[in-house]
Amino acid sequence: MSGLDYLGERKRTHMCGELRREHAGQDVVVMGWVNRRRDHGNLIFLDLRDRSGIAQVVLDRDLTPDGHAKGEAIRPEYVVAAVGRVRLRDAAAINPKMVTGEVEIVASQLLVLNDARLAPFSPAEEAIANEEVRLKYRYVDLRRAEMQRNFWLRHRITLAIRESLSEMGFLEIETPILTKSTPEGARDFLVPSRVHPGEFYALPQSPQIFKQILMISGFDRYFQIARCFRDEDLRADRQLEFTQVDLEMSFPREEDVFAVVERFLAAAFAAAGIHLPVPFPRIPWDESMRRFGVDKPDMRLPGLTEMRSALSDADMAALQLDPDLPVVALRIPRVGALSRKEREDNHPLFDARKGAKFIDDLKRLEKGFPHIVAALRERTGADEEDFVVLVAGDPAHPIKASDTKIPGRLSEREIAVYAAAGAFRVELAKKYADRHGAFAVTSSVVAEADPQSGTMTDGAAAFQPIWVTDFPMFEHDAETGKWVPAHHPFTSPHDADIDRLFSDPATVRARCYDLAMNGLELGSGSIRIHRQDVQRQIFDSLGITPDEARTRFGFFLDALEYGTPPHGGIALGLDRIAMLLAGAPSLREVIAFPKTARAIDVMVDAPTPVSMEQMRELHLRVATKS
Ligand code: AMO
Repeated sequence: MSGLDYLGERKRTHMCGELRREHAGQDVVVMGWVNRRRDHGNLIFLDLRDRSGIAQVVLDRDLTPDGHAKGEAIRPEYVVAAVGRVRLRDAAAINPKMVTGEVEIVASQLLVLNDARLAPFSPAEEAIANEEVRLKYRYVDLRRAEMQRNFWLRHRITLAIRESLSEMGFLEIETPILTKSTPEGARDFLVPSRVHPGEFYALPQSPQIFKQILMISGFDRYFQIARCFRDEDLRADRQLEFTQVDLEMSFPREEDVFAVVERFLAAAFAAAGIHLPVPFPRIPWDESMRRFGVDKPDMRLPGLTEMRSALSDADMAALQLDPDLPVVALRIPRVGALSRKEREDNHPLFDARKGAKFIDDLKRLEKGFPHIVAALRERTGADEEDFVVLVAGDPAHPIKASDTKIPGRLSEREIAVYAAAGAFRVELAKKYADRHGAFAVTSSVVAEADPQSGTMTDGAAAFQPIWVTDFPMFEHDAETGKWVPAHHPFTSPHDADIDRLFSDPATVRARCYDLAMNGLELGSGSIRIHRQDVQRQIFDSLGITPDEARTRFGFFLDALEYGTPPHGGIALGLDRIAMLLAGAPSLREVIAFPKTARAIDVMVDAPTPVSMEQMRELHLRVATKS
């Protein structure tokens, strides 16, 4: 479009979304994007949008022939400034759905500051399904009211967390991005050094070692809103780079860490207009596996119900269930009657490789085993509408796992049955989420919450946090037959278990804890090892040789010798907190410029090859290109 206007000295007086009855009669200047245009001949109506909302601008041919003429040529997403006077709308024209719906701006002048190409979608509408297109034109997508709300929310949450931690005496300290590999279990991103041919920095998977060193440095309480980088497969709740609320404290007990997290998380929820009751419940890991089949239980759904004691050995044999393994029931409320076909469609959601099987046909079970069905109904409290499934070990496909019986603890084979049931429970719940009370409650609480109004929405039913404690120190790797660490190698074992590190690793409990909420792992942390001798033992028990330990963590082992206080901490996923509070289905809704599931930034087009010149400078050559 030719003849664009310059803003000159004109100053914006109001944001579009703040205009109300009381502004009637005032002269205003507003600026923004044309959300919609309606041409009524002598009158053209522009919905003008900025970050704060939308205001209606009227271009009257009689009052501003020039503005009206420009208005005729205007298209959606043009950037304009409207100079005019606020007036009350006629009663019939009041739009109760808009907060500015009682007023409009009668323009005396319209400046067209920029035109706009037609994007593949309109920010005035709901998100389109094609996410790659949304991400390619992210600047247009981010204009949508929903996205603006998400980022405003994220900002408030971050601010509340910063303030809360600061009030509790935590100091925000930045740690390096160009550093050395940190052991969080994912692959590293590497950055070649130009100055040191053939050598690489690693981007931090977390600030783990640095925050521990900050405790050795006497800072007592550290936090950081820290960017972390992990080269791992992406999912809805995983990005290559993400943000942690990372903290560490000196001389803490587990309870101290919990109290800190509960306080800043309650503050974050309050910033989103939601009251989150504290303290959060806690369960040991074993119990979490027994009751939910996972270590990040979704407490909004009914847990698993023990059923083995309701089945006789004859029942077990007749139903071809492994007599030595648990039998549990899971109940998904309010699913309604399912046809055989509908039930069969659910079967791929069950992971039979775990060596477990399930029975979902209660009608058939009722014929031969009415006492089991009666016990099922009684123990699970299921009513007609609910869908109930029995899960047990499958003797035809025995579970490949260690059979080590650990007094008072679950065996790997038992865990496998619980895990199969737990995963099925979550998949079924997701599938029937729209018919399901618990998920609906969460979305309505998110929708109702209005942080600006200052009134709190009760989040107790919608958001259910839980601490999971006392994880095992090691997990058995069925493939290699080895015991591998369940956490990073700085996690302290329970004092009482240290002497069994080598003789009986399966029984060693770790002083670590996870925070789960609504089936999502929100955070993870531990009380650390603060003694050099214990740290060495742990490296040893993990098969890290003294040489390797020296090369990878020598600086840290050294630091441990210079007066290390007992310390511990935790990191929470900030993106995940924002995702939950925005009621969003994926982290990509709360990260401005995320990567796609194929690990690509489609807007900037990264990654891409680099010039030969750059490669030469970095002493690199590409060996293979597939
Ligand atoms: P962990 O590896 O469990 O612990 O990470 C802590 C939390 O960070 C979030 N998170 C992620 N969020 C988005 N995308 C990812 N790829 C991703 N990976 C992790 C999760 C997770 O619970 N240094 C330890 C913490 C500690 O021991 O203090 C650590 O990083 O919400």
